[in-house]
Amino acid sequence: MPITRTLSPYERNQLNKWAPKIDLSSIGEKPIEYVTGHAEFADQDFIVTKDTLIPRIESVQIISIALQFIDNHSLSHPVIADIGTGSGCLGISLAVKLSKTNTPYSIFLSDISPQALKVADLNAQRILHSPENIFFLQSNLLENYPQIKFDLILANLPYIPSQNISKLHSSVKDFEPKIALDGGLKGNLYINALLSKLPLFLSKGGHAIFEIDDTHSFDSFTIPQNITATIKNDTFDKPRFLICSYL
Ligand SMILES: C[S@@+](CC[C@H](N)C(=O)[O-])C[C@H]1O[C@@H](n2cnc3c(N)ncnc32)[C@H](O)[C@@H]1O
Repeated sequence: MPITRTLSPYERNQLNKWAPKIDLSSIGEKPIEYVTGHAEFADQDFIVTKDTLIPRIESVQIISIALQFIDNHSLSHPVIADIGTGSGCLGISLAVKLSKTNTPYSIFLSDISPQALKVADLNAQRILHSPENIFFLQSNLLENYPQIKFDLILANLPYIPSQNISKLHSSVKDFEPKIALDGGLKGNLYINALLSKLPLFLSKGGHAIFEIDDTHSFDSFTIPQNITATIKNDTFDKPRFLICSYL
């Protein structure tokens, strides 16, 4: 199938770097990240495969919200979970930033998909070298987690309402893993399931940062008692993050 789109400067650079000899007419709508096996996120190079979502620019903001929280609360050794880690982009990028300020941390990276978790492990080895303070867990949400209280939970879970999946661009719906996209009827299935567990797994004063669909509002979510929540817009001014605190 011939290529039907114009490549951006980023895409051209990535192709030149990782797949200079590729025949462009063979790739169709396939995202360049799946052609090269690489995606840039928060200034790091992440391996991606057909089992992992391509990290999105919007999600970088989760890292800055998390760092702000750690700073505001002067956390000397934050304990963090990245649930639905995929390529590991959120937890690993946060680890990179914390290392730069010599802040010790413990970060759990978990996913229901063992294939995605292998990619996250590979990325942690490549980017963080010998990460002793990064733990990997195959888990449906928090099911297989030990009874730990986290200072911070990051969760970019599948959040697209099921009926909207078929309307997505071919580069997404035909290539990205469905398990990373489909958030059930209203897109809030996994977010609500995780929200209900926050009082058990967040330490007092702890935060949880969820990425959400831009069709979501407060009414989409069931916020448990003792949890306060705000919605923050992304850099494109769309509602994108549900930020919860445990009082
Ligand atoms: C939207 S992707 C996000 C990947 C990555 N965190 C990012 O920001 O690019 C959602 C991830 O959640 C995982 N996932 C789906 N259902 C899950 C569940 N019930 N428990 C844990 N992870 C799940 C998928 O395998 C996928 O890797």
